[in-house]
Amino acid sequence: MKDILTAPFMVEMIRTLTNMYDHGWDERNGGNVSLLLEEAQLRDYLDLQAAPVRDIPTGFTAPELEGRCFLVTGTGKYFKNVQYAPEVNLGLVRIADGGARAELLWGFADGGKFTSEFPAHMMSHVVRLGIDPTNRVVMHCHPVNLLAMTFIHPLDEREFTRTLWQMCSECIVVFPDGVNVLPWMLCGTNEIGEATAEKMKTARLVVWALHGIYGVGRDLDEAFGLIETAEKGAEIYMKIAHLPRLTTITDPQLRQLEAHFGVKAREGYLE
Ligand code: 13P
Ligand code: ZN
Repeated sequence: MKDILTAPFMVEMIRTLTNMYDHGWDERNGGNVSLLLEEAQLRDYLDLQAAPVRDIPTGFTAPELEGRCFLVTGTGKYFKNVQYAPEVNLGLVRIADGGARAELLWGFADGGKFTSEFPAHMMSHVVRLGIDPTNRVVMHCHPVNLLAMTFIHPLDEREFTRTLWQMCSECIVVFPDGVNVLPWMLCGTNEIGEATAEKMKTARLVVWALHGIYGVGRDLDEAFGLIETAEKGAEIYMKIAHLPRLTTITDPQLRQLEAHFGVKAREGYLE
């Protein structure tokens, strides 16, 4: 068996989590990431027939994910520490018993467990895999400007999306499906997990007002880039929101971007 710490998916996960921390998106234990892995990616690194290290109950069901393996951040773990002790701060789990149980195959070496937002992650994976079978990543973090924006901007999804699209030309190109928004809810619960998954049916970005954001993607770069672009839009908004606005990206210009880059803006979101 090869050393799992040298696996390309592990290296990429550690780099991404470190980068998220460096962006200021993940203070203390803030944020969590889950990455779906195929057995073929794992075979050189783990004996998949061996008995699991231990079982961890999930508190929900997700039969669609039976047997699927995820590399996931641990609850209470600091992103800044992942690069120094990946086997403590990360875990590799296989979903069993229709989602009611996760078999720990590697990691969480100090007796830890997966993120408290595991319901939102797994339920979002189910929804996004139904839309795009190549989706692999669910990413949650606390970017300052997106969070700040939820205090001063109406939470109406169309308005929130349009404001971000108007902040830089890239936004409509990168997230033409827009940004969905949940009001403040208690985090770490099945309820917020179900609500997030419901919102994932129509967009790949879901803002949790006064808390943070979820993004998904076919790989870590894509999920990261989605959040990075939305956060850039929010940063510009927070710099100008209190100033008179003399110019904006107009709807006809957004339509030009849509046509030129071959993307389809969310139905009804452009005038
Ligand atoms: P965890 O440490 O359980 O992942 O929680 C962090 C977080 O961001 C909660 O929303
Ligand atoms: Zn959070």
